[in-house]
This record gives sequence, C-alpha cells and structure tokens, in this order.
Amino acid sequence: MVSPPISLKLIAASFFLSGLQSRFGLPPIVLHALATSDFEWSTLESTERLSWTDCYSGFQCTLLQVPLDYDANDKGNASIAIVRLPSNSSREDYRGPILFNPGGPGGSGVDAVVSAGASIATLFGDEYDIVGFDPRGVSYSRPLISLFETDIERALWVPSTLITVYPSLNASSNSLPRLYASSQVLGQLAETRDPNDYLQYITTDNVARDMLRITDAFGFDKLQYWGVSYGSALGATFATLFPDKVGRIIIDGVVDMEAYYSANMTNGMLDTDKTWQTFFDGCAAAGPDKCAFYAPTAAEIFDNFTALSLAIQQQPIPVVTPDVNGIVDYTFLRNTVFDALYSPYDQYPLLAESLASLAQGNATLMFTATAVPLSASQCQNNASFHDNSFEASVAIACGDSAAFNTSLSDLQEIYTAGKKVSSFADLLATDWRIFCAGWKAGPVGAANTSTPLLIVGNTADPVTPLAGAIKTSKAFPGSVVLTQDSPGHTSTIAASLCTYGYFRQYFVNGTLPEAGTVCAVDVKLFASSSDSVNVNLKRDTRDHELIEAVWNIGNVVRRVTSHRLRR
Ligand SMILES: *[C@@H]1O[C@H](CO)[C@@H](O)[C@H](O)[C@H]1NC(C)=O
Ligand SMILES: *[C@@H]1O[C@H](CO)[C@@H](O)[C@H](O)[C@H]1NC(C)=O
Ligand SMILES: *[C@@H]1O[C@H](CO)[C@@H](O)[C@H](O)[C@H]1NC(C)=O
Ligand SMILES: *[C@@H]1O[C@H](CO)[C@@H](O)[C@H](O)[C@H]1NC(C)=O
Ligand SMILES: *[C@@H]1O[C@H](CO)[C@@H](O)[C@H](O)[C@H]1NC(C)=O
Ligand SMILES: *[C@@H]1O[C@H](CO)[C@@H](O)[C@H](O)[C@H]1NC(C)=O
Ligand SMILES: *[C@@H]1O[C@H](CO)[C@@H](O)[C@H](O)[C@H]1NC(C)=O
Ligand SMILES: *[C@@H]1O[C@H](CO)[C@@H](O)[C@H](O)[C@H]1NC(C)=O
Ligand SMILES: *[C@@H]1O[C@H](CO)[C@@H](O)[C@H](O)[C@H]1NC(C)=O
Ligand SMILES: *[C@@H]1O[C@H](CO)[C@@H](O)[C@H](O)[C@H]1NC(C)=O
Repeated sequence: MVSPPISLKLIAASFFLSGLQSRFGLPPIVLHALATSDFEWSTLESTERLSWTDCYSGFQCTLLQVPLDYDANDKGNASIAIVRLPSNSSREDYRGPILFNPGGPGGSGVDAVVSAGASIATLFGDEYDIVGFDPRGVSYSRPLISLFETDIERALWVPSTLITVYPSLNASSNSLPRLYASSQVLGQLAETRDPNDYLQYITTDNVARDMLRITDAFGFDKLQYWGVSYGSALGATFATLFPDKVGRIIIDGVVDMEAYYSANMTNGMLDTDKTWQTFFDGCAAAGPDKCAFYAPTAAEIFDNFTALSLAIQQQPIPVVTPDVNGIVDYTFLRNTVFDALYSPYDQYPLLAESLASLAQGNATLMFTATAVPLSASQCQNNASFHDNSFEASVAIACGDSAAFNTSLSDLQEIYTAGKKVSSFADLLATDWRIFCAGWKAGPVGAANTSTPLLIVGNTADPVTPLAGAIKTSKAFPGSVVLTQDSPGHTSTIAASLCTYGYFRQYFVNGTLPEAGTVCAVDVKLFASSSDSVNVNLKRDTRDHELIEAVWNIGNVVRRVTSHRLRR
C-alpha cells in the first residue's frame, strides 16, 4: 500500500479560524498544533499497552496493537494511532479518558484532538484525558486504506474540492451515468489494490471493538465518548455491541442508523430544505447591511436565487485572478450553497456576498472562497500523505452496508424518489449508494445500556435531521434527546451554553436533561461583530471561554464533515 505518512497539516484550521476571529471579534484562538513541528508517527512501535511519547505540543501519542479480526487471532494485528491531551488533575480527581470522534467516516480523530483537544477540555474539565484516535483504515492507523498509487492519480479522483469530479445530478442528463461509471472504477481499484484483503476488517463494528480495547488499555471498564455526525453511528454501534460497557456516551448530529447501514441517504435529506429556508428568512430579517443578497421578503430572495441558479446553469462564469483560474458553474454554485448549510452562523454572510456578486456577473468571490488551488506538493509523486479521508470514507461506508449490486436504473429510481424529499437530491440522494455500487465487499439498539445515552439533534440539520436522533433514542430505552434550536450540522456549529451545560452535567454526574429539553443558542444568524452573541445573556469570562471553545471544535467538525460524502 502506501508508505507511512509524515506530517499533520493544519493549515485549513488556521484558515477557518482567521475568518472567524474577524467576524466575531473574539480573542485569537491558539491551536496547539500550529505552534509545533509535525510528529513522526513512524518512530513509534505498536504495543499491547499504552506507552506514551510526547508529541505535538502538550500531547502524548501511542500506537495500540489490536486484532485485525476479533474472531481470529491468527489474521494479524491492526495498529491504532492514539493521541491524548492529558488530564492535569490529581490522581483522586482524575476521571479517565473521553474519546472523541469527529465524523466521516474517515475523519482523523488524531487530527481533530490535536486541533481542538484543548477546547474539548475547556468544555468537560481538566479531570479527563481528551483522547483522539484514527479509526482503523484512517490516516496514522494501520492498515491504511489507499486506492491510489500516486498522489497525482489521487488528485485526479479526489480533487481538493469534490466539485469538478462529482457534479450535481441536475447539471446534465449525463451526470448520473458518468458517476455510475466512476463508481465501477473505484470498486475495481478497491478489489485489485487490496492484496492483503484488509478492506473486510475496516468496518464500524470493528472500530467499536477497538474503542473497548482503548478503554481497557486506560485501565477503565466503561467507555466515555462524544461522537458527532458519523461518530453517532460509531457510538450507537458500540452501545449495541457492549451495552454493559457504556460509561457516558453523547451522540450528536445523529444519523438514521438503519439508513446509514444501508447506504441510503433519502432520510438524511429530511431537514435540508428547512435548513436552507433559514437563509432566506434570516437574510430578510437581517436587512441589507448584514445580508448582501437582501430583498424585502424571504420569497423574493428565494426567487432571486432561483433565477441566478438558472442563469448559471445556462452560462457558467469564468474566473481569472493572479492566484487561481476556473469556472463557477451550476455544480459549483450548488456545492457552495450546500457547504454553507453545515455552518450557517459563519457561512451565511459570506454566501450572501458571493451570491450578490455573482448576480452582478462577478464570480471571483464565490470561487476564491471555495476553490483551493492544487498545490505543487499534491502533485509530487513522492510526497507521502496521511489524509486518506476520501477512500477511508468510501471503504467504511461501503463496508458497513450490505454488499450492493446497484444498477444505473436503481440509482435513477433513488434520485427520483429523493427529489420528492429535498431540492438537494441532486447532491445527496445517491452519493454513498453510487460509491458503493461497484463495491463487492443487524440493527442498532440495546434495551439496557449501563448508562443511558445522551442524544443530540439540531432543529434544522442539513444532513442529520432531528428524526435520526428521535429514531435512535427509541432504540435505546432510557436515552434522552436534547434538541438544540439552530440550523447547521451538529451542536458544535453554534455555541450554546445551555447545551454544553447539559454535556458537562452528563459527563460529571451522569445526569440527563428532562425529556423534551430544547436549548437556544447564544449566537445569531447574519450577526455583525457587535451583536454576534445574544445580548440578553450576561457573560463572564468562563462563558466567553466556552463559546470560543465551541467555535474551535465546530471548525474542526466542519472541516471533517462538509465534503458531501462525509457526515
Ligand atoms: C498481535 O498482537 C498480539 C498481542 O498484542 C501479539 O501477541 C502478537 O504477536 C501480534 N501478532 C503479530 C503478527 O504481530
Ligand atoms: C490544569 O490546567 C488548567 C489550564 O489548562 C489550569 O487552569 C489548572 O489550574 C491546572 N490544574 C492543575 C491541578 O494543575
Ligand atoms: C431508502 O429509504 C427510504 C426512506 O426510508 C425508503 O423509502 C426507500 O425505499 C429506501 N431506498 C432504498 C433503495 O432502499
Ligand atoms: C432580486 O429581484 C428583484 C426583482 O424581483 C430585483 O429588483 C433585485 O435587484 C434582485 N436582487 C438581487 C440581489 O438579485
Ligand atoms: C469582482 O469581485 C472581486 C472580489 O470581490 C473584486 O476584487 C473585483 O474587483 C471584482 N471585479 C470586477 C470587474 O468588478
Ligand atoms: C520529492 O522529490 C523531489 C525531487 O526529487 C524533491 O525535491 C522533494 O523534496 C521530494 N518531496 C518529498 C516530500 O520528499
Ligand atoms: C449484478 O447485476 C447484473 C445486472 O443485473 C448481473 O448481470 C450480475 O450478475 C450481478 N452481479 C452479482 C455479483 O450479483
Ligand atoms: C434542475 O434544473 C432545472 C432547470 O434546468 C430546474 O427547473 C429544476 O428545479 C432543477 N431541479 C432541482 C432538483 O434542482
Ligand atoms: C438493566 O441493568 C441494570 C443495571 O445493570 C439491572 O439492575 C437491571 O436489572 C437491568 N434490567 C433489565 C431489564 O435487564
Ligand atoms: C454534580 O452533582 C453535584 C452534587 O449534586 C453538584 O454539586 C455538581 O454541581 C454537579 N456537577 C455538574 C457539572 O452538574
């Protein structure tokens, strides 16, 4: 497969944060990893026990040996990359590890915790080790999944944005057949470039077993865990396999488990249009100073957007700047809008400016806000890489679902059915199903977990609708759904002191909120820096620290999840 990777790149994090600081006027956020050099994971040996080595700045790293196949010890071992921000409490106060999964599948927990571990500790307290791990198949863990032999080959299939290679199905009548053919290529690469048959072990239930091993290795009997987005499937799977090993589990931005395990995105779109409606309503309410795409009513803004989409569908707009050149076409526009739905509080103002400028025939702002030019390093054949989140995502999502033999006409039917659920079906309806179409490779729930789960959903989440949280809660009697009243993907996308008060209370005391609890958020859509936080709340320093911490975590989650394929 691929030689061991060397560097952890956190440039994206600093990019998102710099935009955030100016918008919210918060003090600069210090990322541990940015200040430090990269860590050579290849110098570590995988061991049965946790043997920590200092890494990044203030963190410790280790590789844990686990069975590749939990049913057959003779199949060899996997190696799980683990990082922790250690608790600094006294021995009596120490409360063990909290494992964090940032979504995906395919997201790197190591990357997430190096970026946001200090912020997670701000939420939960210094009594815990904050622990990130790369699920088997991902990034620094081994075996590593890679379908591509060179970075150039990889860049052709997985450009820095999925935009050009993976079009809107409404872009042309040829889009779906082309994507179907692509999936056959990926499926065949998966078969021919997996000579050791590792792919069969890269599944969520095995990752859940690895989480139990990690917990054991820390000397704890029960798991403490926070999983967002795809991390909700991982948490629910753990609780299903090991109901008596649930210490604390918060799942947040909850996927419909049945749908996830059948690679069926239809129900994932239930609240997508509701989320998009918050743009029109919010823009009309915010006024022309805060929303550049303003018109007096939400309906007029919607009509303007529709007219603009149609115009772009007929005539894409060229972009030439000193740094990047390209085209904003219908697919580009659709993806830009969809990406903003993950994180409305920081994205809507910029989206409105981009749309207004596009309506004037100027696509530069929209293009430069999204398109990341291919860097020279991505085209160096010899450069090693560790961000395999695309292929890990496909491998895990397809490995988790029953083997498919989806035909083009099946996909066409799924798209047609999806269009009845959401106007975003052109981006969402078939995505995992398409990628799994060329792939050859039990229900979730438990009556009596040792601690009930805390299950969190937003009122308007574009990819994990509240219905997923409610349905999952029914599968885990005793669990409680905490609703956060905000658009966007997962609770991390908008700071809510209320939500995080319940999180902390749950972790520390095991106390759940009352059933039916709804938390407001402490930020506003289309906020300017003077009114970004809810002025009715009286804030102390601790509140500011919490709000800042949530933004930091939200940026990491957004970086992992907002690429169409991943949740
Ligand atoms: C796998 O791990 C076990 C336990 O850590 C160890 O005893 C065994 O030797 C390892 N097997 C291989 C093939 O490395
Ligand atoms: C642990 O670190 C935090 C800051 O990260 C500090 O406020 C606290 O006093 C430290 N606790 C101990 C016991 O050193
Ligand atoms: C996907 O899920 C939807 C909603 O539950 C269902 O109506 C549909 O039949 C499913 N599609 C497939 C292909 O299984
Ligand atoms: C929206 O449409 C109205 C006419 O309905 C037009 O006057 C206005 O300029 C449009 N605004 C934008 C930003 O396209
Ligand atoms: C287009 O927009 C960009 C970015 O907002 C701006 O720098 C540029 O001057 C605009 N071009 C024209 C021709 O107005
Ligand atoms: C790749 O090879 C080129 C030319 O041999 C060299 O300049 C470059 O440093 C190498 N890159 C890496 C990441 O090793
Ligand atoms: C997949 O479906 C095609 C067309 O329906 C059929 O020819 C082929 O044998 C099927 N393959 C498998 C592995 O079932
Ligand atoms: C697809 O594009 C057409 C215009 O060509 C538009 O009328 C239709 O609403 C679009 N469909 C979706 C699902 O966006
Ligand atoms: C559920 O678990 C608790 C504690 O583990 C136990 O006391 C109780 O009997 C169990 N209830 C059922 C219905 O299994
Ligand atoms: C946990 O419970 C104790 C005792 O009831 C209480 O004093 C404390 O404030 C609670 N802690 C949290 C974080 O809710």
